[in-house]
Amino acid sequence: MDDNVGTGGHVPVMLERVLELLAPALTGPAPVVVDANLGLGGHSEALLAAHPALHLIGIDRDPFAIEFSTRRLVPYADRTTLVHASSGDLAEVLDQAGRPLIDGALFDLGVSSPQLDEAGRGFAYSYDAPLDMRMDTSQELTAERVVNTYSAAELTRILRHYGEERFAQRVAGLIIKERAKEAITSTKRLADIVRDAIPAATRRTGGNPAKRTFQALRIEVNAELSALEAALPAALDALTLGGRVVVLSYHSLEDRLTKQALTARTKDTSPPGLPVPLPAHQPRFRLLTRGAELPSDEELARNPRAASARLRAAERIRVDD
Ligand SMILES: C[S@@+](CC[C@H](N)C(=O)[O-])C[C@H]1O[C@@H](n2cnc3c(N)ncnc32)[C@H](O)[C@@H]1O
Repeated sequence: MDDNVGTGGHVPVMLERVLELLAPALTGPAPVVVDANLGLGGHSEALLAAHPALHLIGIDRDPFAIEFSTRRLVPYADRTTLVHASSGDLAEVLDQAGRPLIDGALFDLGVSSPQLDEAGRGFAYSYDAPLDMRMDTSQELTAERVVNTYSAAELTRILRHYGEERFAQRVAGLIIKERAKEAITSTKRLADIVRDAIPAATRRTGGNPAKRTFQALRIEVNAELSALEAALPAALDALTLGGRVVVLSYHSLEDRLTKQALTARTKDTSPPGLPVPLPAHQPRFRLLTRGAELPSDEELARNPRAASARLRAAERIRVDD
């Protein structure tokens, strides 16, 4: 049977490794896992199938993801709670679900295949579409609003910080100039402006020059990093003893935030020079991965979209007294 029927051929990234890492935490009589990036429900479905007693709380800010996964997970409806929310509100979601403690958490960050592939959502520079890029289609801020109203300084900061765009100032400058003539409302016009702003010599290398600008705008529109900054600590705090978290990130900023959040909790924070370590300063977590793990060559051959994936995981080894 084709496992991808109705999922547009979408393959969950590093699925076997995610299952393997979470499994030891989900063996109890009534384990609870949070999938903070439900998407098409691929990882969630596999977790529910592998653990017959598991209750899964799935969160996504994209209403289409919730709708799709609700249908996909019908066979497990009595064991799932699917919530349209930002993972930034994870603590509230858990409280409202009446499950403040969890045994596992999965973050599969970033955009989903349908978000990229549905031209009308405006995430992709390869289609001409309105400049939208909202994961949550009910929010007000769109990429169009960012591009047409932010100051040159704000645009430069976003492009440099979130897109790691070397020519951030030039791109922002040309955006300001062009929008003065006529509002920039389409992905194609923006991609053309970016291309014109980047020196011809560098344009020939490094793929489509619009890639970095589109990534930067997407992160800004969806406040992706601030959501992760709130969500990951909330998930870690909610984990029971032996509970595990797995994070799949797709660009260096997400991976850096993840690494920082995990390492901060896996360190002994006792003041240096003490003869015996202080119990209250002992690490509450241990890392389950050495550095960031990458997808195998075999997975990359099957699923090129896994290319930028970086996986980190940790386990709760102490709870507060
Ligand atoms: C890579 S996809 C997840 C795919 C999923 N693991 C699967 O197997 O189908 C990422 C999903 O996270 C969602 N998302 C991104 N940021 C979010 C946030 N802050 N809160 C909730 N959902 C978010 C996106 O809407 C998207 O559906």
